[in-house]
Amino acid sequence: MDGFKVVTKKRGKKKQLATNVNCKETCHISGDTHDAIAVKKKALSTKESLCCTDFYTEMKGKVEECIKKVTVSDKCLAKIVTYGLGNFAECLISRYQLALLLALREDLQISPPGVQLYDPKFFTAEKEVLSEFGFHVLSENEEGKRSCDSSTLFYMPHCGKSLYNNLLFANWSPDRLCHLIIIGNSFSNMIQNLPSSTMKKCAPLIMKIQPYMEEILLPGNFQYQDVFNDTVILLFPQDKLNSLDSEFWEHCPEPKYDPEDLEFIPKS
Ligand SMILES: C[S@@+](CC[C@H](N)C(=O)[O-])C[C@H]1O[C@@H](n2cnc3c(N)ncnc32)[C@H](O)[C@@H]1O
Repeated sequence: MDGFKVVTKKRGKKKQLATNVNCKETCHISGDTHDAIAVKKKALSTKESLCCTDFYTEMKGKVEECIKKVTVSDKCLAKIVTYGLGNFAECLISRYQLALLLALREDLQISPPGVQLYDPKFFTAEKEVLSEFGFHVLSENEEGKRSCDSSTLFYMPHCGKSLYNNLLFANWSPDRLCHLIIIGNSFSNMIQNLPSSTMKKCAPLIMKIQPYMEEILLPGNFQYQDVFNDTVILLFPQDKLNSLDSEFWEHCPEPKYDPEDLEFIPKS
């Protein structure tokens, strides 16, 4: 079953989650030699299998609710920006994450060029497939510093904390942050699980904003673990942001990161 252990339901027994999901498929092709036609076929069949799950139906409902909250003044979602999807030609986790993007784009009726993606590790065939889906593959490494003046969904599955911190930096005001919806790692888990010295050094804005935001849990019924684990929908409610005084938003210098940080690839 494509490298995954399926979560099986046994009558009378508690549902068990699979462990040791093997991300990389056993295949003879690797690196930049993938066949775009085969990669596209696998992506589409993964989307089909995701779309018929209860997980997807519930997930779509949650995303729609969040969009309604954020787009009060804009009326509709302007775009989806995806960072750090990973190598979906080789990695099942990334392929399921791409499947969610394909399905949401269709159901939320976002025009394909309104979906932009960047991952410095994309292979040529992956970029080709994404372009065939009508997506806009960005050529520049924005380092996550995309500033928003209209409602934007950021899809950042399992991205490094520096990338989130940069996104916050680029939108560090109530007028900008309120436009953001992020499907990404739980900030509260990050704060709970990492030493505060690491957070202060690498992700100070995550620490600062976390008490004033909302985290919506994803449905817990996806059949494969490690695809959407530790992933939530993050919102920045305007009333909470407006309650903060101007001092909160001041003194926000451009973040500098450790060159040894393996999760984040800076501009070269
Ligand atoms: C931990 S991996 C997650 C991959 C995949 N989403 C998953 O869940 O397995 C983090 C990803 O972030 C990407 N990344 C690193 N720096 C980036 C940047 N500046 N902009 C966009 N993506 C970046 C990496 O190339 C990598 O694919």
